[in-house]
Amino acid sequence: MSASTLPPVIELRGLTKQYGIGEAEHRALDEVDLTIEKGEFVTIMGPSGCGKTTLLNILGLLDRSNDGEYLLDGNSVESLSHRRHARIRSEQIGIVFQSFNLINRLNVIENVALPLTYKGMFRTKRLKMASEILNSFHLSEREYYMPWQLSGGQMQRVAIARALVNHPSIILADEPTGNLDSKSSHIIMEELSDLHKRGNTIIMVTHNPNLTTYASRVIHMLDGKIASDTKVAIEQVNEIKNIPLGLHTNKKPISRSAKKRQKKAAKK
Ligand SMILES: Nc1ncnc2c1ncn2[C@@H]1O[C@H](COP(=O)(O)OP(=O)(O)OP(=O)(O)O)[C@@H](O)[C@H]1O
Ligand SMILES: [Mg+2]
Repeated sequence: MSASTLPPVIELRGLTKQYGIGEAEHRALDEVDLTIEKGEFVTIMGPSGCGKTTLLNILGLLDRSNDGEYLLDGNSVESLSHRRHARIRSEQIGIVFQSFNLINRLNVIENVALPLTYKGMFRTKRLKMASEILNSFHLSEREYYMPWQLSGGQMQRVAIARALVNHPSIILADEPTGNLDSKSSHIIMEELSDLHKRGNTIIMVTHNPNLTTYASRVIHMLDGKIASDTKVAIEQVNEIKNIPLGLHTNKKPISRSAKKRQKKAAKK
């Protein structure tokens, strides 16, 4: 199959997730249609309770919808077994949870190596790979700590390392920088940005509008539906990204030539 005829990596048709029944019925996702192509960096925003985590859980095959269709690489995944879902996750999907979900009885390096166990890899190889990624997140000194001995920011970085250890092509991240200071946020966003540049698909939930500047597409959700969906030209993404985190504004970025002109004028 040529690249141009590849199916979208994710396609949702009328996807609905409903909790409760009768009077108590609540649609966390209400007939969502969404197509995501390989290599997109999508951010999802929206008020608390609008369905962002529910959507990510279904995309990550951790939960199932009540109605509608989910096609992953063109194949329907709704009817597949729990076991098959776990296998697809271990081969293709990395998930960063909103609440870390580190396993308390395992130390840091074992937590990070966990997704590799499903691949049938030897323990020494698993721990070596986990150690390498922990090193890239400046966490080498914490390898043998238990999760409860870490700060919130460190836990989050461990959770991200665990999501990336098996080199997934789809990364789902629920508020990955929610608990981090701006320096740590920057490390994480640069890592996600690099993964994006290498052709991976990233879907990230965030409440921070500054972080949408890393994305090639921004989706706003409201009451279980997609309220707006905006694609950003990739050159614009790269240009905006050069501004330090926290300093992003909605203003159009200044071009290099305009900057030079400003410098010259200031010297006069
Ligand atoms: N297991 C559940 N049982 C019943 N209702 C649920 C369940 N999980 C989620 N909901 C409801 O579904 C809606 C969407 O929840 P979700 O966690 O997806 O919101 P969110 O957009 O991620 O919010 P936040 O920004 O606060 O994380 C909420 O109204 C929530 O109460
Ligand atoms: Mg959430």
